[in-house]
Amino acid sequence: MLQLSKVGPETYSGDLLVYMVRQSEKRPPCCANGVIDGVIRRAYALGDFSGKNGEHLLSYPEKCKLGTSSAKRILVVGLGKDELNRELFRKIGGTMVSIAMKSKAREMLLVLPDLAYDMSEMTECLAEGFVLGAYRFKKYKTKKDPDAVGEMVRKVAFYASTNINIAKALKLGEIGAQSACQARDMANEPASHWTPGHFSAYGRQLAATHGMKCTVLDQARLKKLGMGGILAVNQGSAQPPEMVILEYTVKPEAPTLLLVGKGLTFDSGGISLKPSAGMEEMKYDMCGGAAVLCAMQAVAQAKFKGLNLVAIVPATENLPGPSALKPGDVITQYGGTTVEVVNTDAEGRLILADALAYGIKEYKPDMVIDVATLTGAVIIGLGHHRTGLLSNNDKLCDRLLAAGTRSGEPLWRLPLDQEYTKQLKSEIADLKNIGKKDGGAITAAAFLKEFVGEIPWAHLDIAGTAWDFTEKSYIPKGPSGIAVRTLFDFVRNWKG
Ligand code: BES
Ligand code: MN
Ligand code: ZN
Repeated sequence: MLQLSKVGPETYSGDLLVYMVRQSEKRPPCCANGVIDGVIRRAYALGDFSGKNGEHLLSYPEKCKLGTSSAKRILVVGLGKDELNRELFRKIGGTMVSIAMKSKAREMLLVLPDLAYDMSEMTECLAEGFVLGAYRFKKYKTKKDPDAVGEMVRKVAFYASTNINIAKALKLGEIGAQSACQARDMANEPASHWTPGHFSAYGRQLAATHGMKCTVLDQARLKKLGMGGILAVNQGSAQPPEMVILEYTVKPEAPTLLLVGKGLTFDSGGISLKPSAGMEEMKYDMCGGAAVLCAMQAVAQAKFKGLNLVAIVPATENLPGPSALKPGDVITQYGGTTVEVVNTDAEGRLILADALAYGIKEYKPDMVIDVATLTGAVIIGLGHHRTGLLSNNDKLCDRLLAAGTRSGEPLWRLPLDQEYTKQLKSEIADLKNIGKKDGGAITAAAFLKEFVGEIPWAHLDIAGTAWDFTEKSYIPKGPSGIAVRTLFDFVRNWKG
C-alpha cells in the first residue's frame, strides 16, 4: 500500500494530493504551493480553516497553472500549533486515510512538510496511521452497502523534498501496522473459524515463511508433559487443544525473550457460564495469542537482531460440554502445582500457568512477557484506555511503559505485592484459581506470578484494550490489534 514517490507535487496529476500545515498565531497556514496557499488563505479569511490539529480542507481545483500540479483533489490537513509527537502523526495518518476513503480516490501523494521534527519518525507514524486507519474486515460481507465509504485507496506515495532517506521508516511503520491488522483479522474471525487448529496452522506458516522454528504440542503431548491446566480447560470442548511454539533465533549470545499469549478461542465461562449478553465478544479472548504471533511476524519481517524470541500460545476453547471441568475440581499444572478450580471462568490463568512454567523450564529465557485478555476487573480499574501492567521487575516495566507510550498503546502499572497472593490459598490444594472479588486483575496476576519464579516477568492484561480501545482515527470499531506494536517496539529498541 505504501511507497516512496520520486514524482513531486508539481508534476503529480493523480487522484489526491495531500499537504500538512502548521497552525500559526496570526497568519493563515501555508504549504509552499502557490495555488493551494491561495485556497487556504480564502478559507482562512472565511474562518473555515486555520490549520488546527486534525482540521482539513478538501478542494477540487481547476487544472492548475503548469508547474503547480494538476491533481484532481487536494487535501490540506492541519497539524495544530502544539508540540508534535508520534501519536499526533499516527492520528493524522488515520484522519487522512478516512477522508480519502470517503472519496473515490484510488491513490494519493502525500507531501511531507519540512518541520522541526524527525523526518523518519514522522514518516513511520504516518505510515502506521494509514495502514491501521484503512483497516476494514469485510470477509463476510456479500452485499454492497450503499452508505459505505468508498474504501478505494490502494496506494499511498510519500514524497519528501529533502533528501533524507525515509525508505526504512516507511517499511518499519508498514510492517508494525500490517502485523497489528493481521491480529485484528484473527480476532474478527468467528470462534468457529478461528480455532486452536488455526493458531497452529498460522504458526507453522509463519515459521515456513520467515525461517523460524514451529513446534505444536498436541493433546497427546500435552498429556505426556502433564499440562493439566490447558487440558482441564479444554475438557468441555470438541476442539482439541494446541500449544503453539515459535522460535526466532538470532545468535546464541543474545538474551532470550519469552512471549506467552492467551489463545482462548472462545470463552463461554465453562460450567461457571457467563451471562449471554455480550458473550459473542468472547471470541476475542484469543487476542493475546494473536498479539504474540503477530509480533513475531513483525520482528521476523524486520529482521531485528537484538533478541532471541520464543512465543508460546496455549490455545483452547472454554465450553461447558459433558466432560467439562467442574467447579471444585483439583487439577495439576505443568510442574506439579495443584489448583482447586473454584470458578471455571477463571480459565486464562490456568492455560497461561502451564505455558509460562513450560516455557521457562524448556527455553531458559532471560525475561518473560505474557499478554492476555485476563480479567473484567482490569476494565473496572483502567477502562478502555490503558493496558494493565503487572510485573516483578522495575527495569522491564520501564522498558515496556516506554514502548507502550511510543506505540500509542499506553500501559499502567498495578501493584503486585505478596499480600494479594494470600487470597489464593486453598484448603485442599496448593492454590485456588480465584481470589476475592476486589482487586481481581491483581489476584489474577498473583496467580501467574506463582509460575514464573525469579525471572523478570511482565503481564499485560489487555481485556480493556484488545477491543473497544480508545476511539482514535486509526482504530476502527472492533479488535484493535493491541500489543503487537508495543512488543515490536520493545524488541526493536532493546539494548543490553
Ligand atoms: N476472558 C475473561 C476476561 C474478560 C472479561 C476479558 C471481559 C474481556 C472482557 C476471563 O477468562 C474471565 O472470565 N475472567 C473472570 C475472572 C473471574 C471469574 C475471577 C472475570 O474477569 O470475570
Ligand atoms: Mn473466563
Ligand atoms: Zn477468558
